[in-house]
Amino acid sequence: MTANAKIARRPPVLAIIGATGAVGVDLLRCLERRRFPVAELRLLASPRSAGKRLPFMGLPHVVASLGEESFAGVDIALFSAGSATAKRFAPVAVAAGAIVIDNSSAFRMAEDVPLVVPEINATEIARHAGIIANPNCVAITTAVPLWPIHRRNPIQRIVLASYQAASGAGAAAMEELLQATRAYLDGRPYEPRVFGHPAAFNLFSHDTAIDPATGYNAEETKVMAETRKIFADPGMRISATCVRVPVLRAHSLAITLTCARPIGADEVRRLLADAPGIRIVDDGASNHFPMPLEASGRDEILVGRIRRDASDDDGRSVALFAVGDQLLKGAALNAVEIAEHLL
Ligand SMILES: NC(=O)c1ccc[n+]([C@@H]2O[C@H](COP(=O)([O-])OP(=O)(O)OC[C@H]3O[C@@H](n4cnc5c(N)ncnc54)[C@H](OP(=O)(O)O)[C@@H]3O)[C@@H](O)[C@H]2O)c1
Repeated sequence: MTANAKIARRPPVLAIIGATGAVGVDLLRCLERRRFPVAELRLLASPRSAGKRLPFMGLPHVVASLGEESFAGVDIALFSAGSATAKRFAPVAVAAGAIVIDNSSAFRMAEDVPLVVPEINATEIARHAGIIANPNCVAITTAVPLWPIHRRNPIQRIVLASYQAASGAGAAAMEELLQATRAYLDGRPYEPRVFGHPAAFNLFSHDTAIDPATGYNAEETKVMAETRKIFADPGMRISATCVRVPVLRAHSLAITLTCARPIGADEVRRLLADAPGIRIVDDGASNHFPMPLEASGRDEILVGRIRRDASDDDGRSVALFAVGDQLLKGAALNAVEIAEHLL
């Protein structure tokens, strides 16, 4: 596979594959908000959505059914339609001359595919061979606040627990949380269709399969492997516990990290204060810390509860709480930021 590092034409012809989904709709809003230059926009989804209209820059755009012929003349193809669709159609898009930015996990760990969070490793984009991968949303929400610390005082170990919103499983899962909540409040039974367990007034281990060899589920395995790849640190020790909670959007993370040298809470606060993509929300006096409701619709990852880990006598460990809108920085926004680097 060969490809130009940047696109030749500006403004580019853009395709969104999965335009009707939770990430797809936010991709449209991010492109609008950031005034991304677009010569032509092609909206693609499954045959179920063919003929639907979605607004972009005040004009309705008709959704077409994805097919082999969809990519003729496309410069950048933003995929957010799951792994199976990406595996099947990303090579078709690349063969037609497009650069693919994929939100699924299909190519993230492939050697020749850069896994990019622009604040951290934008230089990786140039080595793409047609496909650039957007990392897992928990990996992005972990990596962005930890990178400024890691650069100053290498992080050797991360232990994290996630509290993941329903929308992380797509538009249908968001709808399921709403319907299940209404049914619960009305005292009606509700049979889950998307999740394996009741979503309302409940939480459960992430809805991906457990690897019997390790005991970790697929989400946790992705978070651990992808964080190592983003930080270009294959030896970094990471353990994740991923949990689904009854929140509509924005994932929350409780993270404890251990650095090579002693580090204090004030130093972490200083390192994060001016870092891109982060907003500190750490007001102990009024018990105001990062919350999904306040992170929803925001580009920045909110970080607070920054404190020394009392269980580490060496003073090398810090605990913090980070919340990010996983449909934005965890998916659509990060993909659009990568696309901006291709212009
Ligand atoms: N949700 C998140 O927070 C998040 C975060 C990071 C990454 N991602 C990744 O982003 C991707 C999309 O996630 P999502 O949450 O937006 O899911 P979603 O709401 O379920 O949307 C899926 C989209 O893919 C389309 N699609 C499904 N099968 C297709 C097919 N065979 N051919 C063409 N289009 C097809 C759907 O079209 P129809 O409407 O026609 O069915 C829809 O537009 C997934 O790979 C997911 O892992 C999601």
